Amino acid sequence: MELKDKTILVVDDEESFLSLMRRFLEKKGCEVRAEQLADLALDFLKDNHVDLIMADLRMPGGMDGMEFVRAVKEMKYPAEVVVMTGHGTVETAVEAIKIGAFDFVEKPVDFDRLSVIINNALDSGQLKCRIAFLENKIKGYVEFDSVIGVSDRFIETKKLAERIARTEVNLLISGESGCGKEVFARAIHNAGPRGEGPLVAINCGAIAENLLESEMFGHEKGAFTGAVSRRIGHFEHADGGTIFLDEVSELPLSLQVKLLRAVQEKEIMRVGSSRPVKVDCRIISASNKNLEQAVADNLFREDLYYRLNVIELKIPPLRERADDVPLLAAHFVRKHAGEDVKIDRAASEALQNYYWPGNVRELENAIQHAIALMNDPVITADLLPKRVFCSQPKNFAPPETDAFTLKNAQDSVVGDFEKSFIVDALRRNYGNIVKSASDMGITRQTLHKMLKKHDINAKDFKPES
Ligand SMILES: Nc1ncnc2c1ncn2[C@@H]1O[C@H](COP(=O)(O)OP(=O)(O)OP(=O)(O)O)[C@@H](O)[C@H]1O
Ligand SMILES: [Mg+2]
Repeated sequence: MELKDKTILVVDDEESFLSLMRRFLEKKGCEVRAEQLADLALDFLKDNHVDLIMADLRMPGGMDGMEFVRAVKEMKYPAEVVVMTGHGTVETAVEAIKIGAFDFVEKPVDFDRLSVIINNALDSGQLKCRIAFLENKIKGYVEFDSVIGVSDRFIETKKLAERIARTEVNLLISGESGCGKEVFARAIHNAGPRGEGPLVAINCGAIAENLLESEMFGHEKGAFTGAVSRRIGHFEHADGGTIFLDEVSELPLSLQVKLLRAVQEKEIMRVGSSRPVKVDCRIISASNKNLEQAVADNLFREDLYYRLNVIELKIPPLRERADDVPLLAAHFVRKHAGEDVKIDRAASEALQNYYWPGNVRELENAIQHAIALMNDPVITADLLPKRVFCSQPKNFAPPETDAFTLKNAQDSVVGDFEKSFIVDALRRNYGNIVKSASDMGITRQTLHKMLKKHDINAKDFKPES
């Protein structure tokens, strides 16, 4: 086992012993974190990664070594604990092993024996990490079969995604909030050549700008106030796998330069270091904002945009694939309430008619809302959130004028009906004007006029090539 780059936490109340251990371990290339108090050591573990923990069993005042081992085990920390005992107190060491310590060394320390134990404990810790990682992966596993949808638009999107999954190109997934961008990102990763590797997600919009760089690329000890030990960033964790940059439009310009370097050179630099580290990961980005517009507004670097968007996968909003609503609703009912709960007809219709500005996430929430309120195993319309229950048929929207006269309402309903009728025809015919006009029983010229009137672009209905 290579000791270089490993971080070891040593907890002992005796300062002279800590210095001795520090010298021994640093000579082997390890990073050492020393703590004299077990409580402080525990606090440190809550926010930091170490590869091995060594703790003295006898620490007078405050938490003793045995309690410390128990607490580390309770928090399921993914590193082994080696305990250190005074001469002739082997029984206590055996107790510690019973509650989960990996091994023990007696003081005064025999450094040859210590080296062997450290190697074994690091090996074992690494294996535990790998198992924890695989278990997590199984929990979050999404393959294309569990990406649900039957509408033509959705099937087209899924087919394109399956084709993209076989490649290694960087991909931009665009679509409104809640429409399934992350679901697709995970499915593409899992089904692709890097499916065995890690998938690491970063939400670029949710992390404060000053922390984002260290989250992404890691930092060296002492790089800034509070950087008490080295930390590996998400890019290094994603080595051999995929990194998912969610809300990529929110990435500050200063970091866009660094990301560009990571994409182009396949190397990153930890904050506070000038040594480049090689990383090999596929980048899937997602955005619910128009990234092209962000480029035009000088908020997003054009060179980075083209690097990230080698291919774009557009996920259509749920309102444009109403055929998916019943299937998704049934899926969420099963997921949250089991097989025996049904959705009645009026509720089904309300779900289909609603506009779903929050897309699939809003649909799942609406179903959960109804399940929480139901008495019998049937979801009725009145159990749905009011905005869904009271939604007008899709073709109806109140006129945009103040005067809510019958004439205005009629014009609006007819206008909306006309628009959705045209959209349906174009969708059926994949944007083919001649076929759509013929379906609708009107001339090509009339259809063109109507497209202009309703600001519809037939090209939007053509399948992605
Ligand atoms: N096609 C689908 N099949 C099954 N579940 C889906 C599908 N699409 C979305 N979901 C579910 O809907 C929720 C929202 O999906 P997801 O998080 O992928 O959306 P998003 O586009 O990434 O949203 P945001 O822009 O807010 O990040 C999740 O719980 C997800 O499991
Ligand atoms: Mg998302």
